[in-house]
Amino acid sequence: MDDMERKLTKPKLDDRMMSAASFVNRGDVVADVGTDHGYLPIYLILSGIIPFAVASDIREGPLGRARKNARKYGVDQKMKFELSDGLAFLEDGCPVDDIIICGMGGETIISIIEASDYPKKNGVRLILQPMTKAFELREYLYSGGFEIMDEMLSESGGKIYSCMLTRYTGKSRSVSFAAKMLGEKNIENRSNLFERYALSIRDRIRKQVRGMEKGGGSSAELKERLKEIEEIT
Ligand SMILES: C[S@@+](CC[C@H](N)C(=O)[O-])C[C@H]1O[C@@H](n2cnc3c(N)ncnc32)[C@H](O)[C@@H]1O
Repeated sequence: MDDMERKLTKPKLDDRMMSAASFVNRGDVVADVGTDHGYLPIYLILSGIIPFAVASDIREGPLGRARKNARKYGVDQKMKFELSDGLAFLEDGCPVDDIIICGMGGETIISIIEASDYPKKNGVRLILQPMTKAFELREYLYSGGFEIMDEMLSESGGKIYSCMLTRYTGKSRSVSFAAKMLGEKNIENRSNLFERYALSIRDRIRKQVRGMEKGGGSSAELKERLKEIEEIT
């Protein structure tokens, strides 16, 4: 690729990563935690959405990939690379507006948020896209004083994922099982992927109820929860 081509092209993001990109405010400084290939911050810089990004990863291999890709696309001068577990690098005076944590399990995302006070700073927004355990992540956010400002569904590799835009308010909320399972904003937004998302969750719970009944356990509580989901689907 010559210099001209390099400047004109940008990495193609799949819909999952695009959902995270769409939550970034123009002009924000972004930290992409667990960046791996680095495509998300590279895309945001090349699209003129952000001026600067910090790309971090816990492993040298992925961070090296991000560095190499940033050089390839000519944006390495607009990025900083941090070898770091979670948000530890933010403690050393590296101010950012948006923290993106995408493509990890919900439990890992929770442990990363929990280990730092940075997400609680005024003005800081978290863009979170769990590959698993979205219920547990929403439960953690609601009970921990984070507001889920919006959610967006996307499909990648035949699966539907939800990306959450959140910020700390200090006010915890208790919400319904359905809101934690499906996402209050997803229920409100009713995007074209919502029906499939809700039906797959409903079927998963139905299977759990059947399993419990077969095993002779009490399924009454789970059946109540299933009813909540069925009323929405
Ligand atoms: C599956 S990749 C996701 C890459 C990219 N964010 C995406 O959504 O496509 C997960 C990345 O997170 C990194 N990772 C896992 N735990 C981490 C942690 N505690 N702190 C920083 N990075 C972490 C891994 O090394 C890996 O590169």
